[in-house]
Order: sequence, then C-alpha cells, then structure tokens
Amino acid sequence: MNNCSGHEYHEATKHSWLSVRQYPNRLDWDNQPASLKFYPSTYPHTPLTKAFPAHNLIYHIGGITAKKSYPGVEYYLRTNPSAGALYPNEVYFQARGVDGFEDGIYHFEVGSSSAVLLQPLNPNEGLEPFLKLRHPMRGLLFFISSPWYRSAWKYKNRAYRYCLLDAGHLLGTIDAGSYLYDHAYRIAYNIDLEGLNHFFGFGREEFFLSAAILAVPEEGEVEIPKQTLVQSDPTGGVFEPNPLIERTYQETIPLQGCHAEPRFRKFMFHKSAWEEAILKRRSIREFSKQPITKAQFEAVMEIVNQPIPSDCDEPITIYAVINRVIGMPLGIYKDGTLLKSGDFSQKAGYLCLEQRLGSESAVTFFLLSNGCNYRALYQKAGIIGHRIYLASEYLGIGCSGIGAYYDNEVCEFLDDPHMVLYALAIGQ
Ligand SMILES: Cc1cc2nc3c(=O)[nH]c(=O)nc-3n(C[C@H](O)[C@H](O)[C@H](O)COP(=O)(O)O)c2cc1C
Repeated sequence: MNNCSGHEYHEATKHSWLSVRQYPNRLDWDNQPASLKFYPSTYPHTPLTKAFPAHNLIYHIGGITAKKSYPGVEYYLRTNPSAGALYPNEVYFQARGVDGFEDGIYHFEVGSSSAVLLQPLNPNEGLEPFLKLRHPMRGLLFFISSPWYRSAWKYKNRAYRYCLLDAGHLLGTIDAGSYLYDHAYRIAYNIDLEGLNHFFGFGREEFFLSAAILAVPEEGEVEIPKQTLVQSDPTGGVFEPNPLIERTYQETIPLQGCHAEPRFRKFMFHKSAWEEAILKRRSIREFSKQPITKAQFEAVMEIVNQPIPSDCDEPITIYAVINRVIGMPLGIYKDGTLLKSGDFSQKAGYLCLEQRLGSESAVTFFLLSNGCNYRALYQKAGIIGHRIYLASEYLGIGCSGIGAYYDNEVCEFLDDPHMVLYALAIGQ
C-alpha cells in the first residue's frame, strides 16, 4: 500500500459478492441515532424567511423539502440526498455583515428551519484563523461537520465513505444555491480541523470535514474568540465508538501535494427553474426503462465537467455506462470516448450490488480516483454527484446515488485499478 491518506481504509471497506453475504448488516432499531441536531431553546433562534436572500441560501443547503409518513413514523427529506437517509452531517456558519443575521456563529437547525446563534461576534473576532485567513471576511463562512455515528449505526466501517459523500452533497447544495444568491464561493479543505473541533466543543462523536467561503476580506485583523462553544448531550446517548473511522479521520486531516482549482464554474440556468430543481430534487426509486437523448446526456456532462473551486482539487475519472441513450452506441465511455462497445446494462446493475437502478437506468456512472487526499477527493465525488442529480432534475430526468457496489469487480470491468468512490444512475 502507498502512504496516501485513506487508501488502507478504502481497501478495508470494499464490498465483494462474498463480503455482503458473509457479513450481512443487522440493524439495532431501538438504538438508531437521531438524524437532527437541536440546541436548547435558551439559544436565540432565527427562523429562516423568504425575506432575506441569505436565509434562502441557507434553506437551500440541506433544508427540509418533503415529509413522508408511514404508520408510526414520519421522516423528512431534504435538498441534499443522503445514503440511507441518515444525514450524518451538520452545517454551521459564520455571518459577518449579512442582511438578516446579527454577526455571529450559527448552527443551521434543520428540524426547526432556523439559525441558532451559538455566539455573537465582535468585529475583531471570528473563525477566519481556522481557515488560515488573517482578515475579517464579510459574508458567509460555512463549516460542514459529521456526526458520523448516525451513518456507522447502519453502514459500520464503510460509513466514513458515506459521511464524506454526503458532506460533498452539502457542498454541492452550496455550489447550486450560490448561483441563485449570486455570489462566488470556494471550498476549503486546508483547515485547522482539530482547532475547530475543539472550539466547537466536539467530543469524538462529531468532527469537521470542510468549509466553503462566500465572503470577501475586509481591513483589519481577526482573532479566534476566547470563549469556546458548548455541546450538551449531542448524541442522546446512542453513540457507538468506531476505532477504524476515528483513526481514519485523524489520518485524513493532513493534506499533501494539493493543487488549487482557482477557476469558477459558469452555470447558465433559468434561475426560477434552477430553484425548482433544488427544491424538487428527489432520488428516483425505479426507472421505467425509457431512453434519454444524447443532448440530455451531453447537457449533464457539460455541468459536471465545470470546475469546482477549491484549495485541494483531486483528479476524478468519470466513466459512463450507456444503457439506453438515443443516438449513442451502447458501451463504456470516458471523457466522451467510447472505450468498449456492447450492452453492459445487466453487468452495471450486478456491480451495484444487484440493484436494478444500475441496469434499468439510461446511464450508470462510476467515479474513480487515484488522488492522495482522501478527505478532499471523496467530498469532490459528492459534489459531482450533486451536480448530476440537479442537472438531471433540471432536464426532467431522474437520478439516484448508489454507494453500494462491488469495488474490485467495478475496477476489473472498467480496467482501471483506482479507488471506486461512487456510482450514480440517471434515466426516466
Ligand atoms: C452517498 C449516497 C449513496 C446512496 N446509495 C443508494 C443506493 O445504494 N441505493 C439506493 O436505492 N439509493 C441510494 N441513495 C439514495 C438515498 O436513499 C436517498 O438520497 C435518501 O433516501 C433520501 O431521499 P431523497 O434523495 O429522495 O431526498 C444514496 C444516496 C447517497 C447520497
């Protein structure tokens, strides 16, 4: 094994035909962690309203957009998809000079659709130094954390992959929402994560993964507030340690040999239709096996291939297995080139742990990487996944993320030995 972060973890958490049969998942339904975090009502809560553009932006970053009711249970779906709908991420932000918010550090309390003020800020205090920024930043700074045990409850060791993908989807909601907010953003992975975790009062049950900067520097210098934040019983008593995940997180904190992506994406959407796509996005549960058109496929790829501005841009190869696209020969494609022709629809479904989504789609994507910075490359896969979801929704076609696949068999099928990060299916 090489010394790149996360590669050993990735190897240890591969699925195979045998492993999913030898180690079937048994779920402890009586001890399922809650997927919503609430701060006590003694903290000031600001309900998000449509009156302020910044409120709207925050709502677009993981707000509740649908409710499902089953006998005895109700659950909520959000602007972001999530493996197993476990939502193992939280969003915190700093607002400085933003209409609709007092300057301060906030938690986005998804369950009440409000921003909870954790600490007000003086002009010379803020979280900027954790992002290695000296000057006060006017605007919004977002911080994505992971109460990872929510996902480990179901997915065990493999859960860190899902926490990173889901965090990437949340960054994807920022990519999408900032287009309506009309503000540039850049993603930061090069963060003092340990300092930030300590400042927020996190124990081992929650850790930060990334940040997004929608702000501009102002005159002056800024310091971290003296008073740290307090967490009170964040897990509701259902926390299960997972040594592999906790160790892998530590291992994936340092970054090495990062290349920044300074270029910004150029989206050209009708804004109201784009907002509708953000609010209506859902995972498709079953395809009708109708084809899509070549123009639809190319439009999705056009959006997916736009740059993602960040301080650690890792290479990701996108393979497309074309199952039913009018005007395109069937086969495996990479960067628009047909690598191998043939009908691989059954094979694509088999590789996705025999899920029909993979065979009945118009296109099944596989995202692979040989990058060295696991934390950054996996979140980038989630951002790309989110673009595939929203581009599909915008074009009137369906999409589903697929986190479960036979890792090594996908590599053999694609003739690519690198890490398989994510699969997604689109179609009608
Ligand atoms: C990382 C990731 C992996 C997923 N894997 C699967 C999968 O293997 N099979 C599946 O049917 N859905 C999968 N989904 C879709 C989720 O089940 C879905 O997002 C969740 O139930 C919430 O529903 P919504 O996306 O309609 O809001 C995945 C989603 C994500 C983000």
